Amino acid sequence: KEKGFIFDLDGVIVDTAKFHFLAWKKAAAEFNFELTPELNEKLKGVSRIDSLNKILKWANASVTNEKFAELSSDKNEDYLSYVQKMTKKDILPGVYNVLSNLKEDNYPMALGSASKNASTILEKVGLLDMFDSIVDGNSVRKAKPDPEVFLIAAKNLKIPPKKCIVFEDSEAGITAANNAGMISVGIGNKKHLGHADYMFDNFNEITFDFLKQLQPK
Ligand code: BG6
Ligand code: MG
Repeated sequence: KEKGFIFDLDGVIVDTAKFHFLAWKKAAAEFNFELTPELNEKLKGVSRIDSLNKILKWANASVTNEKFAELSSDKNEDYLSYVQKMTKKDILPGVYNVLSNLKEDNYPMALGSASKNASTILEKVGLLDMFDSIVDGNSVRKAKPDPEVFLIAAKNLKIPPKKCIVFEDSEAGITAANNAGMISVGIGNKKHLGHADYMFDNFNEITFDFLKQLQPK
C-alpha cells in the first residue's frame, strides 16, 4: 500500500480524555489547584510526567521527588478505575467504521499514543487486533510535540512519513504530526487545532473516499 494511517488513542479512538481530566483534576486539588477545562487542553497528548510538571508549574507548587511519584501513581490508579469500566461503547462515533474500512482494504495502520495504558485500553474495547503496530508511552523517549512516536510508527509500517496520515485530538499531537512531515487530521475541538491540515468534528464526517484520495503535501 502507498499510504499508512496512524491514530492517536485518547480522545481519537476512545473517549478517555474525560477520564484523564477527572483524574488530573483530583490530583491537582491535592495542592489546592483548580484544573480548568481550558488548561486541560494543554495536557492532551502530553505524557504523564510532563502533565504533572505542567500542573505543578501552573499551581506554582513544588513537591519532593517522592511526592511527585505518589501523585502520578495515584492519578494513574484513579484513571484506571474509570478504564476498568470501559466497553465497546466507549469507542468514539464513526471510529469503528473507518478502522474496519481501512483494514478491509489492507491499509497499514498504527497506533501512536503517549499513553502507557494503550494496550490495556485497546484490549478493553476490542480493538487490539486492528493495528499492525502499536507505538505507545512505553516505547518512546521523547513526548509529543516531538515527532518521535509517529516516526517510529511510520518505520514499523514501512511507509515514508510524508505518506502517513495522522489523526489527533490534541494541540501537541498535531504539532508532532506536522513536525514529522505527515498529513495531520484534527478531530474535535477546532479552537486548539488550527494548525491541522484537515479538521473534523468526529469520524462520522470522514468518508472512506476522502481517505483514499488524500495526497502528500
Ligand atoms: C495521552 C493523553 O494520550 O496519554 C494524556 O492525551 C495522557 O492526557 C498521556 O497524560 C499519558 O497517558 P498515561 O495513560 O500513560 O498516563
Ligand atoms: Mg489524544
